[in-house]
Amino acid sequence: MFASVNFILKMTIFTQKSKIQDHISTEKLKGKTFGFVPTMGALHKGHLSLVKKALKENDVCVVSIFVNPTQFDNADDLKKYPRTLDDDVSLLKTVSKNILVYAPSVDDIYEGNTKAEQFSFDGLEFEMEGMFRQGHFDGVGTIVKRLFEIVTPNNAYFGEKDFQQLAIIKKLVEKYNIPVVVKGCEIFREDSGLAYSSRNARLKPEYKNEAPFIYKTLSTAKEKFGTKSAKEVTEWAEKQFAKNKLLELEYFIIADVETLKPVKRKSKTKTYRAFVAAYADDIRLIDNLALN
Ligand code: PAJ
Repeated sequence: MFASVNFILKMTIFTQKSKIQDHISTEKLKGKTFGFVPTMGALHKGHLSLVKKALKENDVCVVSIFVNPTQFDNADDLKKYPRTLDDDVSLLKTVSKNILVYAPSVDDIYEGNTKAEQFSFDGLEFEMEGMFRQGHFDGVGTIVKRLFEIVTPNNAYFGEKDFQQLAIIKKLVEKYNIPVVVKGCEIFREDSGLAYSSRNARLKPEYKNEAPFIYKTLSTAKEKFGTKSAKEVTEWAEKQFAKNKLLELEYFIIADVETLKPVKRKSKTKTYRAFVAAYADDIRLIDNLALN
């Protein structure tokens, strides 16, 4: 009867959408509320901060663990993406019993047609990550829309670590009238300032040591932004990266948080963030920081 449910680890792991759908609809009839944290696994403290927030605000937290092929523009990155389901489940067990894991196969989600739908996110998709990762946000939109349809959560939690993704998911929900409240969560950082990321595990020691440079540069950029123009701060940051032998900057952009477009002239009524993508060896790291 429970072909797709593994009780051995004392945490319910669903691998089939029909089973988790049945389970959730039964629980909803009993009045339970559901928070949802979509992930690609290789869980770390950043993910757990989202799970903890979801558990505070809902009866049950659903965590999906699925390395979504349609959001990778680079086959090698997809192949090398860490897959650590057993460790992920062990980590979640340390947090709460009220967690359901949904770890589907590619077929359970894509039913033989591993293709992204095409979306318009009113231009948000063309900035920053959209410029450098072809089709990435179509893949993200496709998977998150499907996961929302399967899980039907009351609330869904996304990290500001992927600030553009968070903005795009809010747009997706608005455009398709999806009945879910999307909540942004602060970036969870190591003591060094480095933002937790599943990719950090692949960093060689010298690169791991150097990676906090990204946050340090963002923090100093924030100070400078108080008195200098966006152009001056951007040029300064680019110079810092040019001097760094281990990190290769892809972009440093100061953008308006509403449009995600690079700021040309500062306005006192607008809110800005600085965004970075940089390579440490062959590993692409992203980070961002609120400037005002
Ligand atoms: P993934 O990279 O696994 O991240 C899952 C969620 O955790 C995202 O909302 C991300 O912003 C958040 N997150 C990651 N590191 C964080 C940190 N240091 N602090 C706070 N939040 C952090 O983002 C994805 O997966 C995928 O694109 C997904 C939405 C699951 C669709 O496939």
